[in-house]
Amino acid sequence: MCGIVGYIGQRNACPILINGLKRLEYRGYDSAGVALINSSGEINIYKTKGKVADLECFMHNKPTDGHTGIAHTRWATHGEPNRVNAHPHYSSSEKIALIHNGIIENYSPLRQMLIQNGYEFKSTTDTEVLVQLIEYVRVSEGVGLLPAVQIALSRVVGSYAIAIIERSNPGRIIAARKSSPLVVGIGDNEYFIASDVSAIIEHTSSVTYINDEEIAVVDLKEGLKVVNLSNEELLPVVVKLDLTLSQLEKCGYEHFMLKEIFEQPQTIFDSIRGRINLEGTNVALSGIIDNRERFRNARRIIIVACGTSWHSALIGEHILESLCRIPVEVEYASEFRYRNPVIYPDDIVIAISQSGETADTLAAVELAKERGAFVYGICNAVGSSISRAAHSGSYIHVGPEIGVASTKAFTGQITVLIMMALALAEPIRSDIVRELNKIPGKIEEILRTNDSICELSNSLADAKGFIYLGRGLNYPVALEGALKLKEITYTHAEGYPAAEMKHGPIALVEEGVPVIVIATDSSVYDKVISNIQEIKARRGRVIAVVTRGDTQVVNLADSVIEVPSTIEYLNPLLSVIPLQLLAYHIAVNKGLDVDQPRNLAKSVTVE
Ligand code: AGP
Repeated sequence: MCGIVGYIGQRNACPILINGLKRLEYRGYDSAGVALINSSGEINIYKTKGKVADLECFMHNKPTDGHTGIAHTRWATHGEPNRVNAHPHYSSSEKIALIHNGIIENYSPLRQMLIQNGYEFKSTTDTEVLVQLIEYVRVSEGVGLLPAVQIALSRVVGSYAIAIIERSNPGRIIAARKSSPLVVGIGDNEYFIASDVSAIIEHTSSVTYINDEEIAVVDLKEGLKVVNLSNEELLPVVVKLDLTLSQLEKCGYEHFMLKEIFEQPQTIFDSIRGRINLEGTNVALSGIIDNRERFRNARRIIIVACGTSWHSALIGEHILESLCRIPVEVEYASEFRYRNPVIYPDDIVIAISQSGETADTLAAVELAKERGAFVYGICNAVGSSISRAAHSGSYIHVGPEIGVASTKAFTGQITVLIMMALALAEPIRSDIVRELNKIPGKIEEILRTNDSICELSNSLADAKGFIYLGRGLNYPVALEGALKLKEITYTHAEGYPAAEMKHGPIALVEEGVPVIVIATDSSVYDKVISNIQEIKARRGRVIAVVTRGDTQVVNLADSVIEVPSTIEYLNPLLSVIPLQLLAYHIAVNKGLDVDQPRNLAKSVTVE
């Protein structure tokens, strides 16, 4: 959840670190800090509550020289978000400084042990325990920093991506990882450490991903060395990144979320490019080509995911079962991992994750592998932990998603799930393949109605609560629409299968309560009309997403938003777009921080 960045080289570290933090700010934004080793070999730490911009103000006119430094943007887990709890943390002697993403689960007994040994703590964080532990090992066992880090890490339980600097060795940064992402960028006699490549892409495209329980030592004299906790040297694999800076910038849009909503015609095109043909006769997903028989013979498919990715999993379940007749179950990764699930060796576990770093989904992947299942990853972030842990998989190829509220990743995930189902279906459904090619153009048509959705949002900004309804494939879309609204407008919203209303939630409906109904043309269209009647009978305010040319719902609903007609299986790719725009405009209307909503972080690397 937190973002970490480090620099060592010939340049001034501070601007590089601050810029890196800004790119990582989507990972956490309740406090931020920097530690720099100055020319006299002292470590200066500057930290503050708030965002990176607040840190910049705080550092104004303060000495920020130094060619070695580490920096952090925090999403609080242990200890409230304030200046004292912000990272970096010093060790007691202030000779060592450390930044950390993750959770040290056994911090409490370690803290007690350190207190008994005379250590004092300034913060209430688990991170300060780790830096003190490293110093304690270094002093009590009389070892150098690297062995001290190795010993200390072997005593901690939990997850970490850390970067450490030490006063006595200003030309070196030590970084380590377990269950939290970490990448080392390699420049011209300079090195970068980061939680993800977005922090360093403008400086280098050569990177090496650090694996669990590995330690990277970047030393200006000795270069990059990767070792494990037992000090065995490992060969770092250097890869070239295929990422451009413009993908990380707003490019004239007011917010990343709006940019990402508007990118969807292109991102879906990118996702299908080279994988399906115009004639509709071929779907070539290499992960499926390589494992076709395994999928066809699978006893079950279990899809594990969280949040928005879990919603796309529900759509995948519907399509895979319907087109391929393979039984599919969808599980919250966080529940799956803790309930001792039955997993057969001939099950396939599909893990869906935009970031590829979600702790619960990653743990579910590990559990599935332990139990002998084949794991297929559907990720966006190339080189991410889940994509590397899976046996095979498909990237969604929608480019970096910066807005905390997921939009283009959702449609990218659905696109890949549809292509998987099409690649496995027999005979091939050419009609769907051909129609999938038309989806980017149809999304463009919806985006042209942005102004009228913005206008509609003006009348909804003061509503206290929303209900979202859909049936069949549009039920997960209702869940997703409600989640988008909750995340960025802080307004209560519930998504329901439309027919469930009468089993309880309809009690919430009274005059003027906004009920967003996804009522596009489908096999359950008539049923949805009955559900709309039930809402209208209780004077609810119905806002319906309908297929262009609709003649029935338009006469019942208070407002309608039209989307082009498509094949039922592809409906979610269109019907979710107005819901994304609606949530966006309501949030803007309320003057809220759309890209960095309160309490959230983009990449949930703690459980
Ligand atoms: C979506 O808008 C959310 N921010 C969140 O629910 C997200 O989808 C969830 O945390 C899963 O993330 P992942 O896809 O990166 O695993």
